Amino acid sequence: MTPVDTAVSGGVSFALTDEQKELRALAREFAAKEIRPAAAEHDVTMRHPADVIAKAHGVGLMNLHVPAEYGGLGLNAFDGTLVGEELNWGCTGIGTSIGANGLGAGPVIIAGSDEQKARWLPPLLESPILCSFGLSEPDAGSDVARLKTTAVRRGDEYVLNGSKTFITNAGYADWTVVFAKTDPSKGHRGISAFIVPMDAPGVTIEQHLDKMGQRATDTSAFALQDVVVPTANRLGEEGGGFKLAMQTLDFTRPGTAIGAVGVAQAAYELAVDYAKERVTFDLPIAMHQGVNFMIADMATEIEAARLLTWQAAWMLDQGERATLYSSFAKRFAADTAMKVTTDAVQVFGGYGYMKEYPVEKLMRDAKLFQIYEGTSQIQRLVIAKEIFMPRG
Ligand code: CAA
Repeated sequence: MTPVDTAVSGGVSFALTDEQKELRALAREFAAKEIRPAAAEHDVTMRHPADVIAKAHGVGLMNLHVPAEYGGLGLNAFDGTLVGEELNWGCTGIGTSIGANGLGAGPVIIAGSDEQKARWLPPLLESPILCSFGLSEPDAGSDVARLKTTAVRRGDEYVLNGSKTFITNAGYADWTVVFAKTDPSKGHRGISAFIVPMDAPGVTIEQHLDKMGQRATDTSAFALQDVVVPTANRLGEEGGGFKLAMQTLDFTRPGTAIGAVGVAQAAYELAVDYAKERVTFDLPIAMHQGVNFMIADMATEIEAARLLTWQAAWMLDQGERATLYSSFAKRFAADTAMKVTTDAVQVFGGYGYMKEYPVEKLMRDAKLFQIYEGTSQIQRLVIAKEIFMPRG
């Protein structure tokens, strides 16, 4: 199975342009040559893949959505999915390390003033520096409104105090968009967003967290103790941080969903190849219905996840509010990746459970898609709210 390239029917086109096919091929080649060979070592050691990130930066596979006027490619969300699937087909840990600047820079692209964009975005294109998205806290992951980090205004500055955790790439980031309460009495309406340089006095990386999967990606916890940032670093209005976080996640969730499609596709391909080779009861196991039905379901569900993700990205590119479709895509693709990778281990049997074969890593990697950027349960909550309490 390959992604749909050319089918056109009933006025709805799934055709990729030649440029899009080239972009996808570039990402696939990079994933095959630079990511896959490095994946196992990073999985074992958790070494930060700075070298692969630098190469991805060099060939233009990072910071895809930075607008052209700030030196970026200005790719739309749909084209981003073409790149994201391939990088994550290579390795979701390394793919996430490369792609996470999209989440970090998202709030600046969405809400930054011209001055803020001109200051913070071009350096991302000039060298392979990282930025991150500082939303989650030890006591506020799914329930964003509960976050406790504070930002107290003092003249032309804010003083930030608090802790962040589970932050992708934070341990190696130049700057992080930190969400903090400027008015704790106002709940979600009291949250504001700030660009915080990670070398500012008072910022301490407390831990590079040791994860089950996607071990190539840095996931860090950091503390902010009396960290001073100028008011010029506040993104948008005071109190606008919660909505900015939600708008950013609306944009990035299809990018995460397509990462789940990438890992599922990788597991599927391995399962198909193995099923053709492995013989039991005098037949390749692909000839046994118990196996080939599993593989038929994998193929169907991967294609459905890809198309749902493409639709969410397409809606974003039309300027439509894509909250519902972004959550559809994230929920379905993440759960599909978990099921497909689990079934791929099953197809490999005892070998699948062994570290000597690649599918157990894919199963561990897939699990994170059901958790980060909003758990599968949070996606269902968003979907249910959109159905029963639409925001219009
Ligand atoms: N766009 C714009 N506005 C939105 C919005 C959206 N998508 N969703 C909600 N809002 C607005 C609402 O209209 C409402 O506005 P008013 O103030 O005018 O009333 C306000 O925001 C509050 O909305 P809710 O009442 O729906 O808020 P809630 O407290 O019930 O929570 C939630 C909503 C969807 C559960 C939210 O808390 C959420 O998304 N949680 C998951 C957070 C998440 O994904 N975290 C992942 C962190 S990033 C990460 O994982 C990456 C990494 O680095 C590891």
